[in-house]
Amino acid sequence: MDVVLEGLRRLEYRGYDSAGIAVVAGESIQSRKKSGKLANLVNELAARPLPDALTGIGHTRWATHGGPTDVNAHPHLADGGKLAVIHNGIIENFAELKAALLAKGHTFTSETDTEVAAVLMGDFYRARAAKGADENTLTNAMSDACQQLEGAFTLLAIHAENPNTVVAARRNSPLVVGLGDGENFLGSDVSGFIDYTRRAVELGQDQIVTITPDNVEIIDFAGNPAAGKEYLVDWDAAAAEKDGFPSFMEKEIHDQPDAVAATLLGRSDINGRLTLDELRIDPERLKSVNKIMVLACGTSAYAGQVAKYAIERWCRIPTEVELSHEFRYRDPIVDANTLVVSISQSGETMDTLMAVRYAREQGAITLAVCNTNGSTIPRESDAVLYTHAGPEIAVASTKAFLAQITATYLLGLYLAQLRGNMFHGEIKDVLADLGKIPAKIAKILANAEQIKELARSMADAKSVLFLGRHVGFPVAMEGALKLKELAYIHAEGFAAGELKHGPIALIEEGQPVVVVVPSPRGRDSLHAKVVSNIQEIRARGANTIVIAEEGDEAVRAYAEHVFYIPESPVLLAPLLTTVPLQIFACELATSKGYDVDQPRNLAKSVTVE
Ligand code: AGP
Repeated sequence: MDVVLEGLRRLEYRGYDSAGIAVVAGESIQSRKKSGKLANLVNELAARPLPDALTGIGHTRWATHGGPTDVNAHPHLADGGKLAVIHNGIIENFAELKAALLAKGHTFTSETDTEVAAVLMGDFYRARAAKGADENTLTNAMSDACQQLEGAFTLLAIHAENPNTVVAARRNSPLVVGLGDGENFLGSDVSGFIDYTRRAVELGQDQIVTITPDNVEIIDFAGNPAAGKEYLVDWDAAAAEKDGFPSFMEKEIHDQPDAVAATLLGRSDINGRLTLDELRIDPERLKSVNKIMVLACGTSAYAGQVAKYAIERWCRIPTEVELSHEFRYRDPIVDANTLVVSISQSGETMDTLMAVRYAREQGAITLAVCNTNGSTIPRESDAVLYTHAGPEIAVASTKAFLAQITATYLLGLYLAQLRGNMFHGEIKDVLADLGKIPAKIAKILANAEQIKELARSMADAKSVLFLGRHVGFPVAMEGALKLKELAYIHAEGFAAGELKHGPIALIEEGQPVVVVVPSPRGRDSLHAKVVSNIQEIRARGANTIVIAEEGDEAVRAYAEHVFYIPESPVLLAPLLTTVPLQIFACELATSKGYDVDQPRNLAKSVTVE
């Protein structure tokens, strides 16, 4: 058990709203689980120790389905308490599976999708055991279950009748094997077992691994023999917690393809219709909405500003974006037909919480877009649309920002679908374009060295200006905020069109100016105007750093540096143009030797007004 507990300590950063352990003890499974920090489980184990055991599984949770409670914590038991299962990811079809299992007479104690997987696996196990159980029954039951599951999942299971055995499966979710001497391990990443072995096996998609103390066997979901990729871990334990990246900030920038993909997962059907059943707001009330107010602070407010362009275009509902701390002091006009959307990574920002409370008092419908399941703002809102970016450890927000844009876009499309503002085909096209974004982000990340090199060369910059237009304007603001937060350099983002109304006075020889250029395939007037803005500042000596779409040759003549990103529809561009700005700020700060995970003066969640 100590090995599992130490592994959880190493993995606590991956999720920490509840934790649990289960072991095979004699003829039974015994488990302990507690909501809250891992320390709560440690205290529980001190008060109610588990028996010594050689086979066990453990889990720290980042809640997606069901709040962070003792009951919802993993492991989940099934098959009369003889089976224990833990899970990372999102099982999209858990509702229909649960209905079928309930119809078979099964019962559930939690709200989680994980328990559905456990009961399903237990059902298959028992059916197989009825024909004669053997050492492969658990593996076969896992295979049976995985063939029914849709979504993203890493599953681990132990069974009282299969002692010394742990079976695991993965689809679109991390799982790695640790090869020991007379012992073997499993983890979401190597930091779970790096203290015991550096020999690891990376599993492929849709694979199942069965480990015993002396054997590791890999098959695919259909039961055919398969192989993983063995490698030697050369990271130290601290680095392993960051997947080998030098900082959580850099890890989380690289998590962004998964953050966007996970936020999209399970929220539309194969016909391209939005399925936001989780919202639980009466569709008739949403149809009556005649104004949307987005409340947020900092980076989350910039996500709201990006969302405004899309929501107004798709839904034709007037959408205002308000800084939470300003909102309630200006006597805003809010009533029962106002939809107030709060955006918050932490769900604990006091400014936003107080604004949401005020909006509720005025009778508004309140919907939280939040990355932290069970936090205060979603709890005090009528509905919540969770971003599934995973825990964001670095103080400066990156992956949550892209996930917030993704979630608010889904909300906009859902409203347009509900109110008939968009044809079904239009919605389907936008969803298809959103589905391509993770790969495009990954392409930008793969070509990051150019922007990193530029950032290092600008370590002595005293100020950097950021220009953008349309959806590029809030991206410019966010790029400036990242640079302020991480590199402590004065930076200002503003609308490119505003340049000649004053800020151009700031331009002098060598002044670095980052320009986020709209797609030339969008409204060409926007593109042409931004190119002329670049000419204006270049003529006055600016050092122009341009973020432009692949193939946009018009900007090259006026840019000291051009960083090309994959093309995308105009409204989706912020999900791509933001990434080079994050990399730029992170690398520049790193080259100055600053702590990019915990910048000076900042807190991850501002829980005071
Ligand atoms: C983001 O980089 C900043 N750390 C900060 O602006 C943050 O976005 C803001 O405090 C809001 O936090 P929230 O999303 O948790 O509400």
